[in-house]
Amino acid sequence: MENATAVSSERLTLHGKAFRPYMAAKTIAERVAELGQQIARDYAHVEPVMVVVLKGSVVFAADLARAVSLPMEMEFVRLSSYSGTQSTGVVKALQPLADELCEGRHLLVVEDIVDTGTTLSKFLPDLKARGAASVKLAALLSKPDARLHEVEIDYLGFEIPNDFVVGYGLDYDELGRNLPGIWVAE
Ligand code: IMP
Repeated sequence: MENATAVSSERLTLHGKAFRPYMAAKTIAERVAELGQQIARDYAHVEPVMVVVLKGSVVFAADLARAVSLPMEMEFVRLSSYSGTQSTGVVKALQPLADELCEGRHLLVVEDIVDTGTTLSKFLPDLKARGAASVKLAALLSKPDARLHEVEIDYLGFEIPNDFVVGYGLDYDELGRNLPGIWVAE
């Protein structure tokens, strides 16, 4: 049985960069279950559209969606490229949300991590401007010390320090997404 808080002394290397265990899969699963229950309570009377920000959020969104016991659509957007360990600061809508999925709908945006806030500080107001009935944000992780642009997070998994992490959907140049837990760069 995996311990919720203890991490092993394992190390892993991705593209030559060393990472150590940071957060166990069980810890994440317990928090995601809590967030799912909270979301189900808050959206009991409306049918939300879960807007999954590709690619990093896909693992979190898959678990979160199944923890929300409500009818809910799932849509996918691709916003920006993020290369290496530094945010580019450039937000590109590579795969946008269609107008009919925006206008009058209750949107629950799902993001893996809010770092500088650059991506969401542009994307969330855009959804409101396009006529969404409501826009809320669920984020697994937040690095408040890295914030350059303010972003309101309605459903937050964990606050973490300003360190680079991988796993549970988060990547280091495309590696590490399939790790069940979260690992931090050494
Ligand atoms: P932001 O616009 O700076 O808030 O960050 C946008 C995106 O950068 C996130 O959705 C992640 O895909 C990526 N990102 C930020 N921090 C990390 C990290 O520590 N590991 C992996 N990806 C990250």
